[in-house]
Amino acid sequence: MSTTAPGPQGPKKPSVRKKTVPQIVASRDKLTMLTAYDYWTAQLVDRAGTDMILVGDSLGMVVQGKEDTLEVTVDEMVYHCRAVSRGREQALIIGDMPYLSYHVSREETVRNAGRLIREGRADAVKLEGGRKRIPMIEAILDAEIPVMGHIGLTPQSVNALGGFKVQGKDFKSRQRALDDALALQDAGVFALVLECVPYDLAEEITGKLDIPTIGIGAGANCSGQVLVTHDLLGMSFGKTPKFVRRFADLSATGGDAVGAFIEAVHSGDFPNLKESFKPGKNTSNIQLYGGDLSLTSSVS
Ligand code: KIV
Repeated sequence: MSTTAPGPQGPKKPSVRKKTVPQIVASRDKLTMLTAYDYWTAQLVDRAGTDMILVGDSLGMVVQGKEDTLEVTVDEMVYHCRAVSRGREQALIIGDMPYLSYHVSREETVRNAGRLIREGRADAVKLEGGRKRIPMIEAILDAEIPVMGHIGLTPQSVNALGGFKVQGKDFKSRQRALDDALALQDAGVFALVLECVPYDLAEEITGKLDIPTIGIGAGANCSGQVLVTHDLLGMSFGKTPKFVRRFADLSATGGDAVGAFIEAVHSGDFPNLKESFKPGKNTSNIQLYGGDLSLTSSVS
């Protein structure tokens, strides 16, 4: 059973308008995008005001503990997009297309992108890669689905790239990134993630494009920034990449809280009478979720 009552508590909030792709493209403010894979995290980042929520295939590593993103499936992405969409009020939701979901045929690509929209309730999809992805991007756009591009370090290419490495460090690879960025814009992507490229290259690409660039490990001069929320909150135990800033350390505070729970159970301090139900009375929902619980006795 859930420990917290689902849905909003108290008076109903006025309905909030969710952001649209044209608003994101037209924005002159720095954009923010954060990952979420579940209902709670979606509520957290949405209420804090992020412009976009990315249901990233990074969930393969962050949530499933895998060493890369290659095993994530369309079914899993649909499942996580659905959970996130229930927690969103205002942010634009982008569903990541997992490896092999947009590589085989235009038909399969459109079907997979369509599942993230229709079943997952995402507003747009993201896919990795440069010019060679254009036929698939065009097919998705033909189905009226907005597409976000992603170049630089594209984690689904980890085997082809020989590891998770900074891209665009030599002349040829810089030129390729620039050409890819312009070609993807011409193909119709509404925004472009630049991952792990030198900051001067990201700045140059941003200056040449009319669509927003969203950087991760790409310096300060992109149109916006994206981080994996687990990294930002310090919800991991291993090493984090150089470009991550931990704005909180939830692994430490969470660990302390769990330790305090264990200690309180061992000492008999938890649960106390206030946290227990009186015998012999029907328990209404309001009492169950923290209404009048002036209790004198506990129930086993
Ligand atoms: O899957 C993901 O979270 C991403 C971001 C890191 C951009 O693609």
